[in-house]
Amino acid sequence: MLLLHLPATRKRLCQLALLVLAACGNDEGDATPPALSEPLFPEDFRATFQEVRNCRPSSEHDLSRVVVYADPQALAPYTTREGEFEPGATLVKEEYDGTDSSCEGPVTQWTVMQRLAAGSSPDTLDWRWQRVSLERSVVSQDERRCTGCHTACREPEGFANTCALP
Ligand code: HEC
Repeated sequence: MLLLHLPATRKRLCQLALLVLAACGNDEGDATPPALSEPLFPEDFRATFQEVRNCRPSSEHDLSRVVVYADPQALAPYTTREGEFEPGATLVKEEYDGTDSSCEGPVTQWTVMQRLAAGSSPDTLDWRWQRVSLERSVVSQDERRCTGCHTACREPEGFANTCALP
C-alpha cells in the first residue's frame, strides 16, 4: 500500500483504471443503447407556438390529417418564406387520423424539425428531425427517410427544406 503514496504509481494506476473502464464500455451485449434525447418542443408548446397551417390532409400520405405549428423563431420565415431560419427555430407537425376532418380527435404523433447552425450538419440538411409519440418519447431522430424526402423541398414549392405549400 505504501506504493500508493508515490505520485507516479498513483498516476499509473489511474491510467490502468481508465483503460479498463474504456474496455468495459466497448463490450457488446450488455451495453445499453444511447438514450434518444428529449423532445425538441415543450409539452405545453401550444402556449408559445403559433398554428401556421390549419387542419388538412397531409400530402405526404393521405391517411392522416395534419396541423403545423411554428415557434416564435420559425414563425416569420415559415409564413413569409423570406429570410432564414435561425438555429433553434422549431416546427411541429401534429398528426391526426385521416378520417378526423377537423383535427379534434386524439393526436396520433408529432414530427419535428429544429434548425441547426448553418453548415453544422449537411447530412441532415442542417435540421434535426424527430418523431415523437403521444407519451412524448422520441421514437426516432434524424431518420434517413425524413431528410430523403425533405431534400426535395426547395424554392419555389418548398422553402429551406420545409415542404408545405403556403
Ligand atoms: C414522403 C415525403 C416525406 C417524408 C418521408 C417526411 N416528410 Fe415531413 N413533410 C412532407 C410534406 C409534403 C410536408 C408538408 C405538410 C404535409 O402535407 O404533410 C411535410 C411537413 C413536415 C413538417 C412541417 C414543416 C414543413 O415542412 O412544412 C415537419 C416538422 C416534418 N414534415 C417533419 C418530418 C419528419 C421528422 C420526418 C421523418 C420522421 C418527415 N417529415 C418525413 C413530406 C415528407
